Amino acid sequence: MIEIKNISKTFHQKKQSFKALDKISLSIEKGDIVGIIGFSGAGKSTLIRTVNLLERPDEGEIIINGKDFTQLKSRELAKERKKIGMIFQHFNLLSSRTVSENVALPLELDGVNKTAIQKKVSELLKIVGLEDKAGDYPKSLSGGQKQRVAIARALANDPYLLLCDEATSALDPATTLSILQLLRDINQRLGITILLITHEMEVIRTVCNHVAVIDNGKLITKGTLNEIISQKDHPIIKQFLNSGAMNMPQELNKKLQKEPQDGLFPLVEVEVNEEISVEQLLSIVYDKYKIPYKLLKADVEYLGEANFGKLLLQLQGEQEENQQAIYYFNQNKIQNRVRGYA
Ligand SMILES: Nc1ncnc2c1ncn2[C@@H]1O[C@H](COP(=O)(O)OP(=O)(O)O)[C@@H](O)[C@H]1O
Ligand SMILES: [Mg+2]
Repeated sequence: MIEIKNISKTFHQKKQSFKALDKISLSIEKGDIVGIIGFSGAGKSTLIRTVNLLERPDEGEIIINGKDFTQLKSRELAKERKKIGMIFQHFNLLSSRTVSENVALPLELDGVNKTAIQKKVSELLKIVGLEDKAGDYPKSLSGGQKQRVAIARALANDPYLLLCDEATSALDPATTLSILQLLRDINQRLGITILLITHEMEVIRTVCNHVAVIDNGKLITKGTLNEIISQKDHPIIKQFLNSGAMNMPQELNKKLQKEPQDGLFPLVEVEVNEEISVEQLLSIVYDKYKIPYKLLKADVEYLGEANFGKLLLQLQGEQEENQQAIYYFNQNKIQNRVRGYA
């Protein structure tokens, strides 16, 4: 659906020039959630901005649904851009407008009539879980709620593609997770393709099915999430894989072993969300499998009835029991990762 072909971009400033993108090619299929990961200054923002031509590449093509965007006249381009939503690290909400009025903005600019706007805005607020905040002003919202407003606004024109530039970088881990789950939900329910850039491996691991790694303006590698994760020895991928996970309590970090050993128990990081609450999770461990456990760390946020976040559990049962519980998590799509043994 989207073909980024051989894109290059050099910035010129006074006498200096800087090659921010160097012959990048990437294709994105409809319905994918593609993550682009790279360190600060790698060229991620520049790349995502070339997709809707906010940044014009020096060379290369951006072909979306068969049209080369670099060849479009400005009026045509403006029309095409409306079908591409965008969200940023800083939510860019208007402080003088209420939540509803912020979401309504793109529709007002488009000349949509008031009744239709009202109907659409209330649908959008429902999707992002903010119906009860319609009349509030941005300053009374949390960071996660502000990003939800920005997401609703980005969906106003029924985009087929959502571009996310570090959308969760200003948020704490539990809020990040709830926003990522919302993006996953939007992708699945509304069939919107998502291109997301981040410097956090955890973000990629949580939502993306395809990944591209860029460094110094160059595409280093691309593939499915599993393919990328399996390239553990690649120096850049290695740095990302070691970052982003829940921080281990320090005293544990020292004695943490990579492989199972007699007398050591697994430390499992488990995700909670709308599907599984903290209580249900602990009940699986303790009531269903009768495994004693130690809750080492919890980073959980509640949004209405639902909880979002992560727990770090040490499963202190027999080795086989512990494995059964982890097997159950995997069978039931409860996201988890064994961080080590202690
Ligand atoms: N408008 C611009 N003028 C000059 N240099 C720029 C401009 N935009 C970005 N750059 C430079 O290009 C490089 C890549 O920037 P960016 O795409 O923002 O990286 P990232 O989003 O990965 O942190 C950086 O070195 C940045 O300073
Ligand atoms: Mg950036």
